[in-house]
Amino acid sequence: MNANEYLQANRDRFLEELFDLLRIPSISADPAYAGDVERCAASVADHLKQAGATGVEIIPTEGYPVVYGECLVDPAAPTVLVYGHYDVQPADPLELWDSPAFEPVIKQTELHPEGAIFARGACDDKGQFFMHVKALEVMNQTGSLACNIKFMIEGEEEVGSAHLEPFLEAHKERLAADIVLVSDTGIIANDIPSITVGLRGLSYVEVEVTGPNRDLHSGLYGGAAPNPINILAELIASLKDEDQRITVDGFYDDVVELSAAERAAMAEAPFDEEEYKRSIGIGAVEGEKGYTPAERMSIRPTLDVNGIWGGYTGDGAKTVIASKASAKISMRLVPNQDPEDITAKFVAHFNRIAPPSVKIKVTPMHGGQPAVTPTDSPAYQAASKAMETTFGRKPVPFRGGGSIPIVASFEQILGLKTVLMGFGLDSDAIHSPNEHYGVFNYFKGIETIPLFHKHFAELHAAK
Ligand code: BES
Ligand code: MN
Ligand code: MN
Repeated sequence: MNANEYLQANRDRFLEELFDLLRIPSISADPAYAGDVERCAASVADHLKQAGATGVEIIPTEGYPVVYGECLVDPAAPTVLVYGHYDVQPADPLELWDSPAFEPVIKQTELHPEGAIFARGACDDKGQFFMHVKALEVMNQTGSLACNIKFMIEGEEEVGSAHLEPFLEAHKERLAADIVLVSDTGIIANDIPSITVGLRGLSYVEVEVTGPNRDLHSGLYGGAAPNPINILAELIASLKDEDQRITVDGFYDDVVELSAAERAAMAEAPFDEEEYKRSIGIGAVEGEKGYTPAERMSIRPTLDVNGIWGGYTGDGAKTVIASKASAKISMRLVPNQDPEDITAKFVAHFNRIAPPSVKIKVTPMHGGQPAVTPTDSPAYQAASKAMETTFGRKPVPFRGGGSIPIVASFEQILGLKTVLMGFGLDSDAIHSPNEHYGVFNYFKGIETIPLFHKHFAELHAAK
């Protein structure tokens, strides 16, 4: 049997096994699910063993464990380190799901006429890393494994991978490889394959504005007492100017401006503004003057309020001036911005612009470095050739807007470049209610991955 015959013969089981994984609510952000996260790690380990991996181990960290496994076939062949994450985002708000988040079902959608698997983690990232586990089984069962493969599947990506850098430091030798391969990103459309060649970094802070020492009657005190909610709103509004440029002092100091040629190459990737507006139900796109929407979402940094609270938000009306108001703010960063430097600049700026009537507290949450990956490497060429074969169209290099902070650490700590060969769609609703992953995309991935290893082994030998 060749690889495709084996895949066709085992389609239903490959779906069932993914469903089993999706039924485990491995929410890393919520301690109430700690047992499920651990159970999920054990399940990943079992699946790796079943697919033929050896040396499978659930390696503890200060947080959730990393699942490791390997298939070493030939010391002369190159080694591919496959990275993914078995943890998922919280499913809330639960009432917005059309079917329960941890009871996977297949339903048709406009963009997935062959059906899509609806469940938290279906696309991000269980459905995607599991393609590599199933591809390993396919390659082992059909004798077509061309590279040495190592798996490292972590359980804390959705909360910032805080314990993964020490893990890389501690296991440098075990993780030695020629390239890192990750499926945790997307393609432009099912008929427009693409390979992500850039990820943004992240600086995430919480701000708190404190005014009076207690909540006050808004009639007795209103007019003279500083209102922290009003002030927070003004401060936030001042963080962007009329051109929607971020006003934090020094924010753009280290931003790498792309050349006209690079921007022209980027514009080759199709972007349909009308369809974009329609798909998220907005009247107009926004953003920084002088840049296209695609550029604003990838090569330009952002500042967004992710949450804001304070005062009375219950039913009815309560006349009150709150003592405190807070917000969570994310800044997506681009090469060569440094998360720690940007956080420090934000703290200094926010303290400086605050009026003397209030006290300010800024708490840094987490951060991550941006990353760009090369297109002239054997690994990129291998991914490109593999996708060209399975999609019937050459993939376009594409700069993404999301973040996978550990990608920069792979380079800094292990000296390894990464290939971001993901198969999701932006419309798959990752982190949102009704997350899903196309059945087409799942099997396309399992079909493409063995070809990546084949081409990578060939190109690596030719080098
Ligand atoms: N898989 C995503 C990142 C992603 C998705 C990148 C689609 C490109 C395209 C990842 O799981 C994620 O959500 N990352 C977080 C990082 C954070 C928790 C440190 C993000 O981007 O918000
Ligand atoms: Mn992910
Ligand atoms: Mn995610």
